[in-house]
Amino acid sequence: MTNKKRDMSWISQPWRSSLHRKTNHILVKVIVSIFLIGISYRLLFSRYGSGEKLFAPTTEILGRNSTDEGKCNLCNGVWMPNPSGPAYTNLTCRFIEDHQNCLMNGRPDRGYLHWGWKPYQCDLPPFDPYLFLDAMKNKNWGFIGDSILRNQIQSFLCLLSKAEEPVELYHSSDFKSRQWQFQKHNLTVSLIWTPFLVSADIFEDENGVSDAPIQLHLDSLDQSWAGTYPKFDYVVISGGQWFLKHAVYLENNSIVGCHYCPDKNYAELGYEFSYRKTLELVFQHITNLVGKHIPVVIFRTWAPSHFENGQWFDGGICNRTAPYKEGEFNGSNVDQVMREIELQEFEKAKKTMESSGKSNYLKLLDTYQLAVMRPDGHVGPYRRFHKDKKGKVQNDCLHWCVPGPIDAWNDIIMDMVLK
Ligand SMILES: *[C@@H]1O[C@H](CO)[C@@H](O)[C@H](O)[C@H]1NC(C)=O
Ligand SMILES: *[C@@H]1O[C@H](CO)[C@@H](O)[C@H](O)[C@H]1NC(C)=O
Ligand SMILES: *[C@@H]1O[C@H](CO)[C@@H](O)[C@H](O)[C@H]1NC(C)=O
Ligand SMILES: *[C@@H]1O[C@H](CO)[C@@H](O)[C@H](O)[C@H]1NC(C)=O
Ligand SMILES: *[C@@H]1O[C@H](CO)[C@@H](O)[C@H](O)[C@H]1NC(C)=O
Ligand SMILES: *[C@@H]1O[C@H](CO)[C@@H](O)[C@H](O)[C@H]1NC(C)=O
Repeated sequence: MTNKKRDMSWISQPWRSSLHRKTNHILVKVIVSIFLIGISYRLLFSRYGSGEKLFAPTTEILGRNSTDEGKCNLCNGVWMPNPSGPAYTNLTCRFIEDHQNCLMNGRPDRGYLHWGWKPYQCDLPPFDPYLFLDAMKNKNWGFIGDSILRNQIQSFLCLLSKAEEPVELYHSSDFKSRQWQFQKHNLTVSLIWTPFLVSADIFEDENGVSDAPIQLHLDSLDQSWAGTYPKFDYVVISGGQWFLKHAVYLENNSIVGCHYCPDKNYAELGYEFSYRKTLELVFQHITNLVGKHIPVVIFRTWAPSHFENGQWFDGGICNRTAPYKEGEFNGSNVDQVMREIELQEFEKAKKTMESSGKSNYLKLLDTYQLAVMRPDGHVGPYRRFHKDKKGKVQNDCLHWCVPGPIDAWNDIIMDMVLK
């Protein structure tokens, strides 16, 4: 099964699909059920200010050996003031898409650009694109997932393009799947758009209006990535927000249930069910080590959103200008539940890899904590063409400004693979 009409989607055009869904009673209920269940944002207004004091004592409390780089969890840490700012700008990098080019789109505040990620037990070294490219000669990288991964790859290319500008080898007609090459280093980077990772029939038109629920084949991987997977040396993969949509679930081509289909007589299985099933299948594929060549797989965790005072379709905003303090906000219940499923399935897969002596080939890029503390890093209203029918700006509190906190995700990747 292939994805039909993938070109417009809730995740890439959230403000548009909402317009039409408002006219559809059932869909509105779905949306409301998705977002209202358990989403309780803490409206705390304190500002981040004592970063200096935060990491050193914690290291002591944890009793960890802070000089032991090998044991340092790069994803555990705090955001610290970083006066020097990002490694590139909207003027030095040409890989920033308009939707995420906050500076171009008029975002006035700059504070969000001046924070650096500080793991508790070590320092995250400044990213060196020359070192990275030299280490990645003749390699093939694959980024496999949804529009958040597309968001991340812009930053990845920007960080690298300081050393070498890649050329584009391919793009799909909707620009969601693409391929670039750093020709001096013969490094190829592919982006594969597959928001469910499993086969999905998506019945949405160009405006993101669906006339039938999505059909997810929970026993069949999307071949657009699974088929080409063995050619990669490194894979960054992640699932996400699309699982929250209403959908009918199939196994063996028979309907087994759904998430929110009140007009149908199917069992309500919920998005936890479909996400766990999907990850089981994905990790089975990854841990099924056939052939000589095995890619190093970096699994990236759930990307939390930061809507306050509503959701994307009813006036939700994300206008904070500084990070949360440690523990001040842990994400919505939905975000936490989905990440927990990821961690559980990852751990199972890791054990399987360990038992085959290949644990180095599966890595966790747990960006959840980095992301959840950065309500200030989202595109918000500074997204191009981002208005509802009445001309009212809708906020995007899911995707991230580039440059922005998403750069740290790539700093971590690069440190991870070079070690
Ligand atoms: C920290 O780790 C290093 C390298 O493993 C080791 O040589 C050193 O003794 C450790 N220090 C402490 C205080 O455990
Ligand atoms: C870059 O950002 C500046 C604001 O800092 C803006 O004036 C300019 O138009 C942007 N240029 C591009 C090409 O994005
Ligand atoms: C470039 O890398 C690929 C593997 O990714 C390899 O097959 C090919 O021979 C390399 N080309 C050159 C010119 O080294
Ligand atoms: C799928 O269908 C085949 C053939 O009808 C059957 O043998 C198999 O057990 C089914 N698998 C599941 C998971 O239902
Ligand atoms: C964010 O928006 C709310 C509601 O419009 C407003 O009360 C608040 O002052 C704004 N915060 C910032 C930092 O602009
Ligand atoms: C977030 O999680 C931490 C650690 O579990 C906890 O101490 C803190 O109270 C939580 N914060 C909120 C706002 O729930």
